[in-house]
Amino acid sequence: DRGIASLAALSETHQILQKTCRDFANAELAPRARQHDREGLHPAEQIRRLGELGLMAVTVREEYGGSGLDYQAYAIGMEEVARGDAAVSVAMGVNNLFLGAVQLHGSEQQKQDFLVPYTQGEKIAFYALSEPGNGSDASAASTTAKLDGNSYQLNGTKAWISNSKEASGGVVFATIDKTLKHKGITAFLTAKDVPGLSVGKKECKMGMRASSTCQLVLDDVQVPQFQVLGGPGEGFKIAMQSLDCGRIGIAAQATGIAQAALELAVDYSQKRIAFGKQLSRMQLIQQKLADMATRVEVSRLLTWRAAWLKDNGLPITKEAAMAKLHASEAATYCAHQCTQILGGMGYTTDLPAEMYYRNARVTEIYEGTSEIQRIVIANAVLRELGS
Ligand code: CAA
Ligand code: FAD
Repeated sequence: DRGIASLAALSETHQILQKTCRDFANAELAPRARQHDREGLHPAEQIRRLGELGLMAVTVREEYGGSGLDYQAYAIGMEEVARGDAAVSVAMGVNNLFLGAVQLHGSEQQKQDFLVPYTQGEKIAFYALSEPGNGSDASAASTTAKLDGNSYQLNGTKAWISNSKEASGGVVFATIDKTLKHKGITAFLTAKDVPGLSVGKKECKMGMRASSTCQLVLDDVQVPQFQVLGGPGEGFKIAMQSLDCGRIGIAAQATGIAQAALELAVDYSQKRIAFGKQLSRMQLIQQKLADMATRVEVSRLLTWRAAWLKDNGLPITKEAAMAKLHASEAATYCAHQCTQILGGMGYTTDLPAEMYYRNARVTEIYEGTSEIQRIVIANAVLRELGS
């Protein structure tokens, strides 16, 4: 398959997975992506099919209903799904982000209640960290949790919560004592259908329009103590550790969008004639294609390196941030250049270049903005190389 790069580096399992995901994305995702985008439709059927393929719980152990695969597999699956329909990959990414945290930190009971039911694509989860008043500064949460008997009482508003409209449950990060800053943040597992928990404003977004993004409003929501993930005050570290892995997923998502933009640009440039020859024969167009292809490859290699480190039990905070930073900026760049190569056709909804651009843009914002990735990378570099 011409579009699949670096194949030789992959194991047989990973190659089969890549082909399966690509075939599925070509047949089931890409043909419906623009309609879902236009109408803001939740792709429930596509998510259920992802569940059947094991993509909603890639790294969850088989005994809990997952695929029992590694982060390399997760990166491959996310890239291929995003290449077909990036909005579907948001649901996949957030679900896997949530399950990663429950698998790592959950008790046996929590795994039965909050891991097993979310592996098949029938139920999806949310991950509620951000708030209207704080996104990048995740430790400044003002959603409160007060212990009252055997339960915590949660009050506040979480913002920008992907999947929240359709989700059955998830994790809410709240503070048990704001003066403790990050040491007060605690992770609470909860079903969505509980008294006091409601879905608020749905955002009308530039891209990823088939993925719901809503506020979650908590008004005296009772969460039993046994549904605290980790322990009281452990929430910030749980969030940071799961986001390290989540950033591998967003890097892969961005790589998928960039790859789709590159393929469209190549195809169009070979068909379109200007000044008596194909666009693809003009060196200024070739320069764009070369720069796009190089950025796609660097994105993929950085993403796979972070996944490989994770699969080998090595630290990934810096490497996942580098992959996410590079791949998200590369996705915006590639979608921008694709639009340019298509000329006027790039600016219409007849072809998906404009959708790639709108979808790419948010990969530089969520799961930590590019500025936040640069802060994480710089801190690590200063620690490693500074005096
Ligand atoms: N792993 C483990 N522990 C970590 C860590 C990591 N990656 N990063 C920090 N910590 C620990 C530190 O070691 C420190 O521990 P001690 O208390 O023991 O010293 C503690 O956490 C506090 O660390 P910092 O002082 O560095 O924390 P900070 O308040 O300065 O914030 C930050 C650091 C990197 C800016 C962090 O707030 C951050 O990542 N912000 C971005 C938030 C974000 O990514 N949100 C995504 C929401 S989910 C989403 O968007 C879903 C979607 O895509 C669809
Ligand atoms: P702010 O933190 O207010 O930042 C605004 C600008 O200031 C940015 O450019 C930022 O980089 C910059 N900035 C902030 N601090 C610094 C600094 N120290 N140095 C330099 N520059 C800085 N969150 C969830 O919890 N769960 C979800 O499922 C989820 N899904 C999302 C889906 C979408 C479509 C979107 C748009 C967001 C989603 N988010 C989610 C929220 C997302 O993670 C935040 O939007 C993001 O972390 C940035 O936070 P903010 O919007 O509050 O921006």
